[in-house]
Amino acid sequence: MKILVTGGLGFIGSHTVVELQSKGFDVVVVDNLSNSSPEVLKGIENITGKQPFFENIDLRDKSAVQNLFKKYSDINSVIHFAASKAVGESVENPLLYYENNISTLVYLLQELQAKKEAHFIFSSSCTVYGQAETMPITEDAPVQLAMSPYGNTKQIGEEIISDVVKVTGIHSILLRYFNPIGAHPSAEIGELPIGVPQNLVPFITQTAMGLRKELSVFGNDYPTPDGTAIRDYIHVVDLAKAHVVAVQRLIGKNNLSKVETFNVGTGKGSSVLEMITAFEKVSGQKLPYRIVDRRGGDVMEAYANTAKANSVLGWNAESSLEEALASAWKWEQKIRNKA
Ligand code: UD1
Repeated sequence: MKILVTGGLGFIGSHTVVELQSKGFDVVVVDNLSNSSPEVLKGIENITGKQPFFENIDLRDKSAVQNLFKKYSDINSVIHFAASKAVGESVENPLLYYENNISTLVYLLQELQAKKEAHFIFSSSCTVYGQAETMPITEDAPVQLAMSPYGNTKQIGEEIISDVVKVTGIHSILLRYFNPIGAHPSAEIGELPIGVPQNLVPFITQTAMGLRKELSVFGNDYPTPDGTAIRDYIHVVDLAKAHVVAVQRLIGKNNLSKVETFNVGTGKGSSVLEMITAFEKVSGQKLPYRIVDRRGGDVMEAYANTAKANSVLGWNAESSLEEALASAWKWEQKIRNKA
């Protein structure tokens, strides 16, 4: 069974390709290398013994997307990661985000709607909940007005898919990710942030490596136990496995409706200061940090109620926060050639 994975050389995509291949799926990776490297193919092969098919295609090119589906006419399952994900950049350049994240989605769905039956897994985000009123967050918590064009593309993406499944043979699962961190335990693949990392864990590992002077902790005056913001950090390998289970659910026709939504998190919230302490424990490194002002657009806390993913999807996050942080640290050391 062949699966198309868009953005398959990116952070979450590459880990999902590994999990798919280890379950016996043939994978076709589409990636335009805008935020990834062809070296990732080698990393995937080192883990699984097999390279996926690779197509260097920009999904904004509609005719390239059409040709892709002509070439792989047997494909009717797509896991769609390819998208831009920097919140600040999306505020600066909204049209880039609407083109990258929405046009590409439309072109893919246009190809899939020609098929009698098709399966589509969409990368959504807990950002759709904004600051939810109650914790942990369940899937029926209201979607709130997006705080950035990036967040809006996730909401619009979910709406487009919900409209399209009604009138086509497409079945879809929307996965709302909480905060993915870590790397493959082999340190063959991991996150490769370009420039100064915006996300917490790559900033922590780069600081520990001496590439950054200190971590700025964005705010310690939130109404949380230690004053710093709380998130649900999930090991990227656990997140990758959720995609395999989701696509198997659609292929096996086990879905209960044409579009289903699942939170993918651990159910456990950690504050920024708790992340620093946990990192120091697993790495044996002291982490220099400074408290600064809150970052605009950040919510106070977000962690998942995972009961639906656990019972309906039959998926559980297995790794601990310490394992996830240790894998991120091992990866950082590997890419800086110090492991
Ligand atoms: C953000 C987006 C989310 C998106 C994800 C993609 C928001 C509100 N959320 O998640 O929609 O899917 O990025 O990458 O924009 N922090 C620091 N210092 C740092 C970096 C982060 O204190 O140098 C804190 C943040 O304030 C936050 C936590 O660490 O409380 C996690 O931040 P980050 O890793 O950037 O993820 P989110 O903001 O949760």
